[in-house]
Amino acid sequence: MQVLKHIFEQNRRWADKIKESDPDFFLKLSKQQNPEYLWIGCSDSRVPSNQIVGMLPGEIFVHRNIANLVVSSDLNCLSVIQYAVEALKVKHIIVSGHYGCGGVKAAMENKEHGLIDNWLKHIKDVYRAHKAEVDRLRDDTEKFNAMCELNVVEQVANVCNTAVVRNAWKSGQELAVHGWIYSIENGTLKDLDVCVTGLDEIPGQG
Ligand code: CO
Repeated sequence: MQVLKHIFEQNRRWADKIKESDPDFFLKLSKQQNPEYLWIGCSDSRVPSNQIVGMLPGEIFVHRNIANLVVSSDLNCLSVIQYAVEALKVKHIIVSGHYGCGGVKAAMENKEHGLIDNWLKHIKDVYRAHKAEVDRLRDDTEKFNAMCELNVVEQVANVCNTAVVRNAWKSGQELAVHGWIYSIENGTLKDLDVCVTGLDEIPGQG
């Protein structure tokens, strides 16, 4: 039987290293989690949420799926948002996309990919909503980059329009929704400046 021993060894070394600098780290963390951030990102192995923002266990609540989508029929993502906002009372929801996203790329192709096309359909909706803007760009890389960014902007709007987030704002809860994008080529994050902190700031609404 394959038991992936090396992974258990790596785990042991990782836990020991953390305990070296803070012997009670895991004990303290086992009593409660109190993260300030919810991260909604892509499942891509090159975009590990905790590592790229330099955060330890306990600091960030995470939901990842292909192409960091927030879909109104996705009970998994909506449950994560509900728990993060209502129970953990996170102060920030960060939707982070990344350039070179395979999900976005696949959605831009006129090819069939099987089951996953049901999911990618939501990215095609993003393209339809911004067709004129994207088609104006001549270079394929520019189009791809623009779609990766626009997908984040749309998912920020989707987060803002969930009942959970709207109700939080209605009741005066402090909550900001951010849209960021990560470059897998150089490891840096960029703020897309689409931060929303209340109902009156949701794009397209007064
Ligand atoms: Co991706």
